[in-house]
Amino acid sequence: MKGKFLSFFFSEKVHFRHYFGGLSLLLVILQLLTGIFLIFFYDPALDNAYKSVQYLTNDVTGGGLLRNIHRWAAFLLFLAVIIHLIRCTLRWDFFNPAKRVLWLTGILLSLPIFLLVVTGLILPWEWKGYWFMEIIPNYFEFIPRIGSSLKAFFIDSFTLPRYQVIHILILPIVTLILIDYHFLDKLRQRGVFTYILRHTLLSLPFIIAVIVLSKYATIPSNDPQEIPMPLEGRYIPAPEWYFLILLLPLMYFKGKVVLILSIILPFLLFVILSILPYLYRGKKVPEGWDFLKKSRFRKLIKGVMVFLIFIAITALIYRGSYKSPTLGCNGCHHINNGFRMGVVPKQFKDRNVLPNLNDNLWMMGHWFYPDEIY
Ligand code: HEC
Repeated sequence: MKGKFLSFFFSEKVHFRHYFGGLSLLLVILQLLTGIFLIFFYDPALDNAYKSVQYLTNDVTGGGLLRNIHRWAAFLLFLAVIIHLIRCTLRWDFFNPAKRVLWLTGILLSLPIFLLVVTGLILPWEWKGYWFMEIIPNYFEFIPRIGSSLKAFFIDSFTLPRYQVIHILILPIVTLILIDYHFLDKLRQRGVFTYILRHTLLSLPFIIAVIVLSKYATIPSNDPQEIPMPLEGRYIPAPEWYFLILLLPLMYFKGKVVLILSIILPFLLFVILSILPYLYRGKKVPEGWDFLKKSRFRKLIKGVMVFLIFIAITALIYRGSYKSPTLGCNGCHHINNGFRMGVVPKQFKDRNVLPNLNDNLWMMGHWFYPDEIY
């Protein structure tokens, strides 16, 4: 009995090599389920969106918990994906012709997942969502030649219902198609439900972490009854951090340097990772590179390397973003401070009326140091 029980978890069908891949899948499923719940309460009308989010968070049974799970799972999903990517890279998966599609779809998947995070930040349409909506056009502005048209396009075309459709329909479809190509075929042969059941049990510590975090590290949304401190959320990780790290160069540099650091480098990284299997087409893992295979000791070394690279990447994200008071916007931006501070202005697309929105230094400064720059 005991043997059977253990073999349920540790059989060949569960690949610990893909523990974080499996965890990512579970988090995606969790996002789908909690997302479906949120759809029933969210109203994409400009002057009602945040109210509907407040209502769902504060007045609907379980609403606050599910919304915060949706937030924390998004944060952890990216971490799981990063670990999964490091492990697959250190296993030199891109040398394996049988894994070419797996590799490419895996890298491609990071894109819709990232865009889901970004659109998800905008939808609540409090000042945080408003800020993100405004900075995205500014971000694309740095691209030579087409930049200013792109900027105009993003500003003109923005409406909440459109972004809602992108967030709840278009991006999830793209994600699911890519996941299907990525590995569902293989999974179907092995049995999807057993796999998911097993991984759910194995991932229980993470799932419990998501729930505990969602219960205790919540996003303040009960203004004006409860008003957070203006600098609340400093040091508390949040999905916003992933996009903020891309924007960080805006605070220190201008022009071309921003273009290189914030757009060209991430883009190149994405392209190079995508085409790695094609660069190494037909080649074998070079002598010495496969030092990570086989013996237990080497496995341990590999584990340590994965851990160190992971720590380096997360430290970068943390170092870049820990000072952002992600939860404090409502500390000043609430209706008790007057209509101007409480409600996102109707002219939010008009940079002549709101010139600060064009000023990246101001925008970044206000996000990171809202008590000093406003
Ligand atoms: C210390 C108080 C305070 C905090 C905290 C604060 N803001 Fe502001 N914010 C202001 C003031 C004051 C203005 C200027 C309003 C004006 O021009 O009349 C402003 C303006 C803005 C603007 C410019 C556009 C506009 O309509 O004026 C945006 C965008 C914005 N805040 C977003 C945020 C976000 C996002 C956060 C949280 C990260 C945040 N604010 C936190 C005080 C604050």
